[in-house]
Amino acid sequence: MHLLSSSFIVLLFLLMSSSSLLRTVSGLDAVLGQYGETLEIPCNNGVVKADDVLLIKWKYDKGEGLSGDLLVKQKNQNLSIIASDEYKGRVNMASNASLLLSSSTLRDQRTFTCMVVAGADIAEYPVNVLISKTPAVLEISDKAEELEIGKVMKLGTCVAKDAHPAANITWLKNNKPLESDGKRVSVVVSEQVDPLSGLFTTSSTLKYSAEKEDADAEFSCTSESVGQRSSAVTFTITYSTENIVLEVLSQDPLVEGDNVTLKCVADGNPAPTSFTFHLKGETVKVENTDTFTIINVSRETSGEYRCSLINKPELQASENVLVHYLDVTLNPSGSVVKKAGEDVNVSLLIEASGETVVSWTKDKIKLDKEPEFTALTFSHSGLYESKVTMGQLSRDASFQLRVQGAPVITQLSKQRGEDGQHKVLTCEAEGFPEPAVSWSINGSSPEEQSSFIDGKISHRLTVVPSVNLTVFCTVVNQFGSDSKSITVSSYQSEDKGQMKMAVGVVVGLLLATMVVALIYGLYVKKSKQGSWKTGEENGSSEEEKKLEEKLEEKVEESSQKAEV
Ligand SMILES: *[C@@H]1O[C@H](CO)[C@@H](O)[C@H](O)[C@H]1NC(C)=O
Ligand SMILES: *[C@@H]1O[C@H](CO)[C@@H](O)[C@H](O)[C@H]1NC(C)=O
Ligand SMILES: *[C@@H]1O[C@H](CO)[C@@H](O)[C@H](O)[C@H]1NC(C)=O
Ligand SMILES: *[C@@H]1O[C@H](CO)[C@@H](O)[C@H](O)[C@H]1NC(C)=O
Ligand SMILES: *[C@@H]1O[C@H](CO)[C@@H](O)[C@H](O)[C@H]1NC(C)=O
Ligand SMILES: *[C@@H]1O[C@H](CO)[C@@H](O)[C@H](O)[C@H]1NC(C)=O
Ligand SMILES: *[C@@H]1O[C@H](CO)[C@@H](O)[C@H](O)[C@H]1NC(C)=O
Ligand SMILES: *[C@@H]1O[C@H](CO)[C@@H](O)[C@H](O)[C@H]1NC(C)=O
Repeated sequence: MHLLSSSFIVLLFLLMSSSSLLRTVSGLDAVLGQYGETLEIPCNNGVVKADDVLLIKWKYDKGEGLSGDLLVKQKNQNLSIIASDEYKGRVNMASNASLLLSSSTLRDQRTFTCMVVAGADIAEYPVNVLISKTPAVLEISDKAEELEIGKVMKLGTCVAKDAHPAANITWLKNNKPLESDGKRVSVVVSEQVDPLSGLFTTSSTLKYSAEKEDADAEFSCTSESVGQRSSAVTFTITYSTENIVLEVLSQDPLVEGDNVTLKCVADGNPAPTSFTFHLKGETVKVENTDTFTIINVSRETSGEYRCSLINKPELQASENVLVHYLDVTLNPSGSVVKKAGEDVNVSLLIEASGETVVSWTKDKIKLDKEPEFTALTFSHSGLYESKVTMGQLSRDASFQLRVQGAPVITQLSKQRGEDGQHKVLTCEAEGFPEPAVSWSINGSSPEEQSSFIDGKISHRLTVVPSVNLTVFCTVVNQFGSDSKSITVSSYQSEDKGQMKMAVGVVVGLLLATMVVALIYGLYVKKSKQGSWKTGEENGSSEEEKKLEEKLEEKVEESSQKAEV
């Protein structure tokens, strides 16, 4: 049976070859297949139905005018594969007459023809087969360790392995194509063909001159035509130091006793790690740090400082260090005791690194100017404080001045007591240390018997005199004493204590008498109307007594004045 059919086919072939009915479809169809995969080569674009035709045969162009048979299918017969060469075991036919070619290689790039016999009609449909292969994953090899700025270096090689046709490699930086310009960017491409498979391996080497901004740049390569792309790579960008700055790290203001840190800031990648600090004549080398600290600075520390790279000494930075200082010497200082009438020379010596402002206070009250003392008085006593400021710095200095001397009575006065029965004598004196006050008569003293403030003392004595008295107040301390007298009349009276005018006493007395008489007249008149008396007072006799007293006082006063 098999033999029979074979001979039938051969017969048919001979017939067909010579048949005038044979027609070849003009215009070659082309099919693109993927390398290694099963390729479907359609017969007459798939419009053929194997069951409808008498015979379908697939053959291929062996070259040099020869053709090789692959398979044949007769109506109502099983498919017969007749391929004997490289296609043995690789061919099959689909029900729509397509030739199925498995494990396609580049050698399959030839013309396959499907011959269809339907009735008396014999047609041939040649199909051109092209095989392509996308390269294996694109890879960047020979990647540079790091890129040095401004130096053309081989960045890496992008390899597109086993491709057909050969891959066209484009380099990308941050997803943008890098155009070869022959200077900063240049690309060298090489291609290799595998003699066995005929596949191309393309290598594209990028030579590149990096810039500072390339520190984070992503480089990749792509074969656009087949949509392949390598993974991105980044590079450490190295560059030598170009800029160096000396920073002075210190408190503001920098004052004596502080520490100051010099910091040498230099660019470059990798950053420099060792520096030379030039400290006013002295040089110090530091490693693995960029700082140098000067401890406990003084005014002598002020000056210009520099730093440089150990391996590039010509690159230097400099900065000035200014140590502020404010020294104040006040003379006198502390507690100062002087005698009244003496001089005190006040001197405030200021040594400062800048402009200063001085202010003074005495007992916390601001003074207009520096205190000057010629012929000290007791009122000069007090706490003198000076404040010297310079920017944020300030210094305080002070002295406590105490003026000593024999006491002097400044005032001795008398005053009628509130009840009209007694008199209050007041003895005021100045002096330091506190003088002891004594009176020539006995009496009682009010609660706050005396006060001693700022070298001034005030002492009071309450007396109820039964006779006319001359009372002495005596003040005494280690430096001397003073004494003054005052006359106290037995009648209660007031003394204004003004006993200085000796001239015109008589005129004054007369005048006073007249005035008193006038007032008395008015008073009598008014009291009769009973208008402005307080309930406590006991009638006109009390008032009369008062007036009498006044009158008597005037007389007394004038007599005293006459005595002076
Ligand atoms: C022929 O049939 C195969 C499966 O049998 C199918 O994959 C292919 O698309 C068909 N070809 C055409 C041209 O219709
Ligand atoms: C076709 O093949 C099947 C099994 O593959 C076989 O049973 C059958 O006899 C064959 N037919 C012819 C006509 O050779
Ligand atoms: C490769 O690609 C570049 C740009 O994408 C194009 O100019 C060039 O013609 C291509 N070369 C090939 C062989 O396809
Ligand atoms: C200065 O540095 C020394 C040593 O590090 C430290 O003991 C001292 O407290 C520092 N002085 C100041 C004012 O910071
Ligand atoms: C700082 O230096 C001054 C002299 O410049 C010295 O008197 C002082 O003791 C020093 N202080 C410290 C903490 O070293
Ligand atoms: C104060 O200074 C003057 C001159 O400047 C001097 O004659 C006098 O003795 C000084 N007085 C004191 C108490 O130092
Ligand atoms: C004052 O009183 C004392 C006793 O308290 C007495 O010895 C003295 O004589 C009195 N002096 C006068 C002046 O009265
Ligand atoms: C007190 O002195 C006044 C005048 O100075 C006189 O009139 C009076 O009589 C005197 N009184 C006594 C008690 O001596």
